[in-house]
Amino acid sequence: MTHPEITRRKFLQYTILGTLASAIPGLNRAENRLINKEPDKNFRPDVELELYAQNAEVPILPGAHTHVYQYTCKLLKGPAHTVKTLPGYLGPILNFERGQKVRIFFYNRIAEPVITHWHGLHVPQKMDGHPMYEIYNGERYVYEFEIDNPAATYWYHSHTHEMTATQVYQGLAGLITVRDAAEQKLELPADEYEIPLIIQDRTFTRGNQLQYLHGRHRRMMGFLGDTILINGQANATFPVKSRAYRLRLLNGSNSRIYKLGWDDGTPLTVIGTDGGLLETPETFPYVMLAPAERVELWVDFSGRKTGSELTLQSLRYKDGGTRMGRMGGMGGGMSQGKSFPIAKFSIKERVGESHQLPKKLVPIRQLSAKDLTSPARTVPIEIGMRHMLFQLNDQTFRMHDHQNIERIPVNTIQKIRIFHEGRMSGSGRGGGMGGARGMGMMGMMLSLPHPIHLHGQQFQILSRKQNESNSAYETVKDGFIHNGWKDTVLVMPGEDIEIIKPFEDYTGLYLYHCHNLEHEDLGMMRNFDVY
Ligand code: C2O
Ligand code: CU
Repeated sequence: MTHPEITRRKFLQYTILGTLASAIPGLNRAENRLINKEPDKNFRPDVELELYAQNAEVPILPGAHTHVYQYTCKLLKGPAHTVKTLPGYLGPILNFERGQKVRIFFYNRIAEPVITHWHGLHVPQKMDGHPMYEIYNGERYVYEFEIDNPAATYWYHSHTHEMTATQVYQGLAGLITVRDAAEQKLELPADEYEIPLIIQDRTFTRGNQLQYLHGRHRRMMGFLGDTILINGQANATFPVKSRAYRLRLLNGSNSRIYKLGWDDGTPLTVIGTDGGLLETPETFPYVMLAPAERVELWVDFSGRKTGSELTLQSLRYKDGGTRMGRMGGMGGGMSQGKSFPIAKFSIKERVGESHQLPKKLVPIRQLSAKDLTSPARTVPIEIGMRHMLFQLNDQTFRMHDHQNIERIPVNTIQKIRIFHEGRMSGSGRGGGMGGARGMGMMGMMLSLPHPIHLHGQQFQILSRKQNESNSAYETVKDGFIHNGWKDTVLVMPGEDIEIIKPFEDYTGLYLYHCHNLEHEDLGMMRNFDVY
């Protein structure tokens, strides 16, 4: 089903259907799709907005405007700061507060099916943007949910069946912030001292149009662009004052993994992860940020000279993708693991006072083995490969499909082990497929990292184990954050990771998948059936 020809044919079919559906109401296939078209009268929203997925021409590079897909938004009810529009092509930043009831009328105005997922938010299954709920051109989906997550940085993006990669690539993504009382008390740097950094890599044609990759093998390796965009703009420079700032970073790229570091060697001070602030700030020589992961940094420019600059970089590291780079994949000069600047901070103004980094941040409910509902059970997420495609638990994605091992009782806390299938790791790997001598396409694929994302509630990491002695791992291993709430974890070749995750409140199909968007679209995704 994932053959490009078939996908293209299906795409045409969708386009025609979408047009028909909007033209002839009686022919609306939505009737059979269980999509949520009408608001619930008993739901009293604090915030109400209209969100559109539409075509747009926006300035990104000097010269011609770029054709993109773009989320645009109209606030119908709620505080004015809820919607913050960004220049460029990304959707607006949506600023929510914990406890707010939010209603979003989502309208599809592009010629492809679309559905939107609120990445990291704990919402009912029908509100989660599962691809089974895709809507066609002219249709709308009504989302209603309460913000029930701790203060952190989340995001939203399209999650359309086999089109997530291309739709996100063309712009269907945006940032979400959630604030709560525990965070408020800390009085972290806010307003102009709080900077979002949505990091993406793109490739442009000479005419400034977005260029994607073609062919199944290249898609398996993942898209790597040669131009870094921050918040949808190239060559990002931020004028700052000599004081402390809070940076909210999102890796919104399809496949690229960043090894974040300051160019002068200053350690990174991490205050938050995917799903919340940490208990205490932690410092790292560098931080690995895989697709969909977020990290919040504290950076203090006080004491720095006016006129000086500090650059956030992606540092050099080794992984399977570098070999692909040499083979001339997309972004040949910008292979995975290459070093390049991400964003420049230029100190423009000297100020006396500055925020002090709090010693303690927020209390976290630490989950451990004793919290497990059934200590004897380990839910597997086994990364494997068949017919040159990645699979999870021996299966490729099918819309409603789930196996017994993927059934999880609601209101339980589960241990989940994410690991590579036997023949892909350890001794099995040298056996002709991954050996240095026969490093073919298969070998390269086996050495790819996978950022694994689970929908629903955030999880914690219990353990991380590397089963191979491998020199590439040495170049990334000090950049993993073990504490805090996560919804995406980067699984390197040879790694075996245990996480602990609550499955509370809601039943239904919740996705788990690789957030390398090319992998996801090629079927590296499955459902958990929470019952
Ligand atoms: Cu960010 Cu299932 O996605
Ligand atoms: Cu993957």
